[in-house]
Amino acid sequence: MKAVTALVPGGPEALQLTELPDPSLKPGEVLIDVVAAGINRADVQQRRGLYPSPPGAPDFPGLEVSGRVAQAAQGFEEGQPVVALLAGGGYAERVAAPAGQVLPAPEGIDLIAAAGIPEVAATVYSNVFMLAKLRAAQTLLVHGGAGGIGSMAIQLAKHHGAQVISTAGSAEKCQRILELGADQAINYREQDFVHLVQQHGGADVILDVMGAVYLSRNVEALALDGRLVVIGLQGGKTGELDLGVLMAKRGAVFGTGLRYRSLEEKAEIMRQVQQHVWPLLADGRLTPSIGKTFPLSEAAAAHEYFDSGEHQGKILLTV
Ligand SMILES: NC(=O)c1ccc[n+]([C@@H]2O[C@H](COP(=O)([O-])OP(=O)(O)OC[C@H]3O[C@@H](n4cnc5c(N)ncnc54)[C@H](OP(=O)(O)O)[C@@H]3O)[C@@H](O)[C@H]2O)c1
Repeated sequence: MKAVTALVPGGPEALQLTELPDPSLKPGEVLIDVVAAGINRADVQQRRGLYPSPPGAPDFPGLEVSGRVAQAAQGFEEGQPVVALLAGGGYAERVAAPAGQVLPAPEGIDLIAAAGIPEVAATVYSNVFMLAKLRAAQTLLVHGGAGGIGSMAIQLAKHHGAQVISTAGSAEKCQRILELGADQAINYREQDFVHLVQQHGGADVILDVMGAVYLSRNVEALALDGRLVVIGLQGGKTGELDLGVLMAKRGAVFGTGLRYRSLEEKAEIMRQVQQHVWPLLADGRLTPSIGKTFPLSEAAAAHEYFDSGEHQGKILLTV
């Protein structure tokens, strides 16, 4: 099969289309003919040699795909349209995925667009709802609301009845955030999010993709009993935290990663995603936010575009 690998870590040009053996199927896995793969920030880190696949997973990028089941297995029928959450290896014509991480493709959604759903839906649902327990009428602050993760978080939280405030780096992206349903958009290059969030009584939950650079300001922006969930370290991993401020807010700081979770945990997250997110996709209340698609053979150009930060929503590779 054809696959995109980074034999030597580096920039986008490190990604090369290569010929690899088809994946060998382990017990409990489903073989999928890939239709499209989603690009995630973790793929960039992997390309740079900074975020390897977990042991046992293919050692090239790709955390989510859509496709058709290559041969009947684990209750899935041959040819059935599916999506899958992966620990790696999605930039390929074929992948083998643990059955618990494979879901029937959501009805009513184009199969290419569906490739951008598993990683973001699983990340947002597991962190905002299962871990931080965002409730209706509470306030969620989403950093980077026009990105892949952010656009899913805004839509899901709004459907849950929450108030959503979100940051983005340009007027155009702030506009996109409002179109996605956010109640307030904050241009992080021009405005102080702490002050603006405090005007709304603080955030009950913050979904953070920046890490160190926002740590103290995020804690300041929390409401009483607020929960800060750090899922990205784009602004560094070592920060300073005033525990006095955290205690005064009775606050909690979580840090999580989806990729290295056990098969059982991922299967439970995907069950919850199917139960709570799939119905919203089926009747059009939630739509995947797709920025651009590139053929698999142009993965390097797709990463160059992703690295530029100009994109909104998900960038996809089509097979
Ligand atoms: N822990 C996990 O399990 C997990 C799983 C998936 C993803 N993630 C993390 O989630 C993040 C988003 O991933 P993605 O694939 O959705 O990538 P993406 O689409 O490129 O999103 C990155 C986002 O970061 C925002 N951003 C950059 N600088 C910012 C700043 N100073 N303040 C606020 N926002 C800022 C960008 O906003 P602008 O474009 O408006 O500048 C953009 O929306 C990444 O850090 C990724 O590692 C974590």
